[in-house]
Amino acid sequence: MKNIALSIEPQFDVMAVRRDFPVLARMLRGQPLAYLDNGASAQRPNAVIEAVNDYERHHHANIHRGVHTLSQEATQLYESARDRLVRFVNAKSRHEIIFVRGTTEAINLVAQAYARPRLTSGDEILITYLEHHANIVPWQLVCEQTGAKLVVAPMNEHGEVSVEALESLMNERTKLLAFAHVSNALGTVLPVKRVVALAKARGIATLVDGAQAVPHMPVDVQDLGCDFYAFSGHKMFAPTGIGVLYGREALLERMPPWQGGGDMILSVSFAKTTYNSLPYKFEAGTPNISGAIGLGAAIDYLDAMDLAGAHAHEHALLRHATATLSRIADLRIVGTAQDKASLVSFVVKGVHPHDLGTILDEQGIAIRTGHHCAMPVMDFFKVAATARASFAFYNTVEEIDRLAAAIERARSIFV
Ligand code: ALA
Repeated sequence: MKNIALSIEPQFDVMAVRRDFPVLARMLRGQPLAYLDNGASAQRPNAVIEAVNDYERHHHANIHRGVHTLSQEATQLYESARDRLVRFVNAKSRHEIIFVRGTTEAINLVAQAYARPRLTSGDEILITYLEHHANIVPWQLVCEQTGAKLVVAPMNEHGEVSVEALESLMNERTKLLAFAHVSNALGTVLPVKRVVALAKARGIATLVDGAQAVPHMPVDVQDLGCDFYAFSGHKMFAPTGIGVLYGREALLERMPPWQGGGDMILSVSFAKTTYNSLPYKFEAGTPNISGAIGLGAAIDYLDAMDLAGAHAHEHALLRHATATLSRIADLRIVGTAQDKASLVSFVVKGVHPHDLGTILDEQGIAIRTGHHCAMPVMDFFKVAATARASFAFYNTVEEIDRLAAAIERARSIFV
């Protein structure tokens, strides 16, 4: 009966899932931890912790370098994680999966190795108003380096970017379109497939920042049709410091390496260096081997669970949070798009978000407060910061009710 009380989707056994995540059993300040900061970083299940632990205890060596057994085992574990990622995003081949540190590094790689050599003065890079700094600043750097111009598609008062607005800004000067699949500050889901199709028809390359999407929805890069798709392991229940750049093979083939050294090399002489084939051409230096293995284990974990049920549960949590928080006096939800994924940003009149975050922490509730690395979004909504509760499939209705009660308590102190 308890499951039904905590999960709105009776088929999805949230309590069973919670037992897979050891940190969720923690007590904080005498209360059970309510971890509602999954947009910043999600927690790891036992399966990921154990895969990393097993590797560190029994298999660690450098990869692609040794004939000895440990090196071969480490290489096999690392490369089999890549194979899982091919399936996870439905890439055409393992040449299209580049391991990077995270979404930020993936975007910088594309900015420097794809955009920089191609762009000249007068070219345009199109982004949207709701981007994370990591999908703004790398393009600003490329614009400074090449004389290209950054063009920003507007957003409406709900935090939506219309397909028409994006389309009207695509022209013969637009060489690249970079945009989020899901906004980290607002939760808005962008219609990636439709936007990519419009860009493609005009010969514009596309990069999708999928950091906030992969934990919440199935992603099929071939179906979306994008040229590049970037995401981070730690938001999808894997360790930090590992992420993926998916790139269409034909484009990756034509791009020069970004960083030099280690695995990206085939042969070096002082006269000439030849580069390794894909995907290694973009993996200079010893990579985050244990992180990649943890990411592979996270995919195995997701593969084994009822993902449709998990996603439905998250949507139910979002609906419940939206309805419950909306009833609190003086609380404004920032970001009210029709199509939203698993988070609610909000401000409470008379209570600074940082004070709210501290008061919630005293009750065992973890949320993120601040500008969420999306200062233009904060400027648009005329707020310095918001409080953000972001959900994963292991969150419960009860945790959201605790959040609402704790916000009411904060109001009683400040207002
Ligand atoms: N980009 C991450 C967030 O939204 C860190 O919290």
